[in-house]
Parts: sequence; C-alpha cells; structure tokens
Amino acid sequence: MVGYAFMGAAHSQAWRTVNRVFDLPARARMALICGRDSGKVAEAADRLGWDEHTTDWRELVSRPDIDVVDICTPGDSHAEIALAALAAGKHVLCEKPLANTVAEAQEMAAAAASARAGGARSMCGFNYRRVPAVALMRQLVAEGRLGEIRHVRATYLQDWIVDPQFPLVWRLRKEVSGSGALGDIGAHIIDLTQYVTGQQITGVSAVTETFVKERPLPSESSGLAAQTDGGSAATGPVTVDDAAIFVARLNGGALATYEATRFATGRKNALRVEINGSLGTVAFDLERLNELEYYDATRPAAEQGFSRILVTESDHPYLSAWWPPGHIIGYEHSFTHQMRDFIEAVATGVDPSPSFAEALQVQLVLDAVVRSAELGSLWTAVEPALATATA
Ligand SMILES: NC(=O)c1ccc[n+]([C@@H]2O[C@H](COP(=O)([O-])OP(=O)(O)OC[C@H]3O[C@@H](n4cnc5c(N)ncnc54)[C@H](O)[C@@H]3O)[C@@H](O)[C@H]2O)c1
Repeated sequence: MVGYAFMGAAHSQAWRTVNRVFDLPARARMALICGRDSGKVAEAADRLGWDEHTTDWRELVSRPDIDVVDICTPGDSHAEIALAALAAGKHVLCEKPLANTVAEAQEMAAAAASARAGGARSMCGFNYRRVPAVALMRQLVAEGRLGEIRHVRATYLQDWIVDPQFPLVWRLRKEVSGSGALGDIGAHIIDLTQYVTGQQITGVSAVTETFVKERPLPSESSGLAAQTDGGSAATGPVTVDDAAIFVARLNGGALATYEATRFATGRKNALRVEINGSLGTVAFDLERLNELEYYDATRPAAEQGFSRILVTESDHPYLSAWWPPGHIIGYEHSFTHQMRDFIEAVATGVDPSPSFAEALQVQLVLDAVVRSAELGSLWTAVEPALATATA
C-alpha cells in the first residue's frame, strides 16, 4: 500500500478484516506500506498492521513477493505508481478519481488493458458501490422494478471548508488534486448513479465556483482536519472549484442533476441519490446507509407510499457474512466489501469492476463538466473513451 493517512487507514482496516468475515479463495497478507516520512510510516505500519515499511514506493513494485499494489495517495501520483505497478505485473487497486487528467487516465486504462493479457487485474476505488443499500438499488433497477428511468437526482454535500481560515490543504491545490469538490466527491456520485442505473452520462451543462480564493498556508500538508501554521499571515491561492453543479443527459433517456460542494453548511457527508422511474422511486442517503427508501407505484393506490427498507437481511447484498438482521453496519464496511470483490476477482481470474476503463469514463465526464463551466455552461458532450482503453 502507498499512503497511510485517511484512505490508508480505511483500506488497512478492510485488508485486516476481509478474510476474517468473508470466505475467499485467497488470503491477504499485509506485507509492505509506503509513505514519504520514515518515522511516520514506521508508526503507521505498526498501528495499521503492516509487516514492513518503506519510503520508496518503487520497492513495492519491484519486490517479487508482492502481488497487489494499493494506491491511497493524492491524484498527482496515481498514474506514475499504477503504470509502474502494472508494468511489473502487479494487480492494482487505485483510489478515485483515477487520475488528475484525462490523458493520464487514458494511459492508465490502456496499460491496464495490456497488463490484463498477462493476468494482472486492476480496479478503481469507488467504494460507495459496495454499500449494501446501493447494491440493492442497482438490483431493483436491473430487475425492472422502477420501469423506465426518467430522473436521477444526486447530491454530495460537505462543509469542511466553509471557514475562510481553513488552510490551503492539498485538496485545494489543482496540481496535487486535479480538481476540487468535482473530482473529490462529484466523481463518487457520477460513478454511483451510472452504476445504479446502468446508463452513462452523454452530455452536461455545468457551473463551478471558488467562493474563497485565498487561504492561509497549512502547518503541514494534511487532510480534512488540517490546521494553519498559527500566526503566519502567509496565504496562497485556491486553484480548484469549491462547488460544481451540472445537469446531464443519460444514454437511456434519463435527465439528471448533480451537485457537489464543500460549502453546504451543516452537511457533513451527505451523499444522496434519488431515482424516479415509471413504476417507482428509490432514494438513498449515505448518512442513513442501512436504509433504502422505495416507492412501488404498481401497488394498489390505497396502499401506496414510501417504504423504508432496512437493508440488513442476509439475502441483501454482502450481508450474509455479517450480523443478524437489524444489526447495522457502517462506512468502513464499504471498503471491506471492496476488498472482498477485488480479492475474489483476482483469485478467480475475472475482471473486477469498476475497471480503469470505467474510471476513465468518469474522468471524461469530469472533464466535460470543467469545459462546460469554462464556456459559460455550454452544453458539452462527454468524449467517448478510446478503443484501446475499453478493449
Ligand atoms: N473512496 C473514498 O471514499 C475516498 C475518501 C477520501 C479520499 N479518497 C481518495 O484517496 C486518495 C488519498 O486521499 P486521502 O484522503 O487518504 O489523503 P490523505 O492526505 O489523508 O493521505 C494521503 C497519503 O498519501 C501519502 N503520499 C502523498 N504523496 C505521496 C507519494 N508521492 N509517495 C508516497 N506517499 C505519498 C501521504 O503521506 C499520506 O499518507 C485520493 O485519491 C482521494 O481522492 C477516497
């Protein structure tokens, strides 16, 4: 694994847990973790349960006893690490968004397609697909229970940078993160809605905004709970979007709206998706992740109404391995499910999903949003993925 902070901890928990919960054809051994600071990575290895640690990610890629490379760094290093790992024949799990640019994502998808011929598999970490209620939503849509999909309404709302004194962390610097709310949380709702509906976004009209354009420099380049250096007046420019809002058309005929923001005061991690079809509606809210709202319009009029499905039954996706009905699960389980699906795919020689090609398609949507916003919300088609990448 490369990176040992937020996602490093979430993925480590999942790697530690997955074989203890799920019966899988292969067992994960947590061999080597990499970070740039030798003291901190040593401490992280001990705390998170890794056998060894290093400050050079090339060691992960070159060691013959390592089969899987898990990339948990900011987007500016995804491409370089993933390309080297694939070239060395490793299976690769890479955090989202796949890359910082379409060009990088195309190169990664093409490399993944070639490495696949040699048996190396790759996947991008859109973990919210693995929340059982989300997987159930997809099942209901796939079974035709919603009929024809007409509307997709997706928001991902956070508020951690409302304070203008919040420091200029890496997520606010384009050269490290690629984009702001758009690529960080907008990418999740793009992937999730396409996954649930089985439809792809074909075009967008977007607005983006950077509300706070200058921020104090951080004491260190930390994440969501960063601090300023306390007293220094030094500031730097915010070079990413604080919020991105767009309307979209999906190739199955649905109209969609998307909102990704870090300025929704009071909203901490409000990922919400509602899908309206000719026969029903489903609605999901990550802050109530064990529940799915379902409206079945085929029921007699006198009985119609929204029902709340408690998604904890053993025949719900992923849940047969966990607790008795009603004994709820949480955020971290989505990562354990991600590792379950990844290990199973790798061990049985099938392609895990979302592939790098699927993640490239998300990157192409992000790119269309940026271009549309730059052109005064001009309707902008999503470019098709290159044939080499989708092969
Ligand atoms: N799936 C999700 O829900 C989710 C949530 C948060 C973040 N992410 C994604 O995970 C990735 C990491 O985000 P995070 O929140 O964990 O960030 P973070 O700042 O908490 O951690 C980043 C880690 O990467 C290390 N790092 C940075 N550059 C490195 C390099 N060149 N070589 C080795 N180590 C390096 C840092 O030292 C740190 O340990 C990003 O792509 C982000 O978009 C995904």
